[in-house]
Amino acid sequence: MFNLGILISGKGTNLENIYNFTQKFSNKIRISSVVCNNPEALGIDIAKKNNLPLEIINHNKFIDRVSFEKEIDSVFSEKKVDLICNAGFMRVLTSWFVNKWLNKQINIHPSLLPSYPGLNTHKRAINEGVKFSGCTVHFVRSKLDSGPIINQAVVPISPEDTEETLSKKILKAEHIIYPQAIRLISEKKLEVINNKVIYKEHFSPKEITINPSEGN
Ligand code: GAR
Repeated sequence: MFNLGILISGKGTNLENIYNFTQKFSNKIRISSVVCNNPEALGIDIAKKNNLPLEIINHNKFIDRVSFEKEIDSVFSEKKVDLICNAGFMRVLTSWFVNKWLNKQINIHPSLLPSYPGLNTHKRAINEGVKFSGCTVHFVRSKLDSGPIINQAVVPISPEDTEETLSKKILKAEHIIYPQAIRLISEKKLEVINNKVIYKEHFSPKEITINPSEGN
């Protein structure tokens, strides 16, 4: 069994989508733990509704980042997590945690990294008039929203797009590429060499990217 540990801070739509995906492969992949750092997060209801093992670990209750992360680390270690998936987890992690879970922790970010790391990605992309945005799944490194890229989806920005409409379109693409990345990792179909993701076999672009020319 390949065990996922999911880190959330907010709405939890990626959590729910990953859960639905694991249901299709329930003999191979499961969510063994969900950790939420925000006691107000809507994602908590999603975890409860689906009977997922949930821990609320409020970062405000710890004296420093590492003590907070040690708590997460002990939950995930106890639940025998093979891969941590950050799903809208909005805390910066120290290099202690990043190195402890090196190449065993992935993140989804709503832009075509390395463009637009950080917050307000949609607003910045619209304001700067870029024609394409999208989303990226990558292995986590210490620098915010950086690390070896696993897969990406391209989403065109139309002149009518607002932050809200663009974020909806990108979220839809996120829900396609995040399970794709998890599946590739759980099936050991890729490795990280020189800080770059190398696929061990040939994939059609459809399996590792989504491109508007393909009608998505
Ligand atoms: C998603 O758009 C995700 O890409 C973004 O937060 C949202 C969470 O939505 N993550 C980041 O910005 C990380 N830098 P969700 O809670 O509905 O899954």
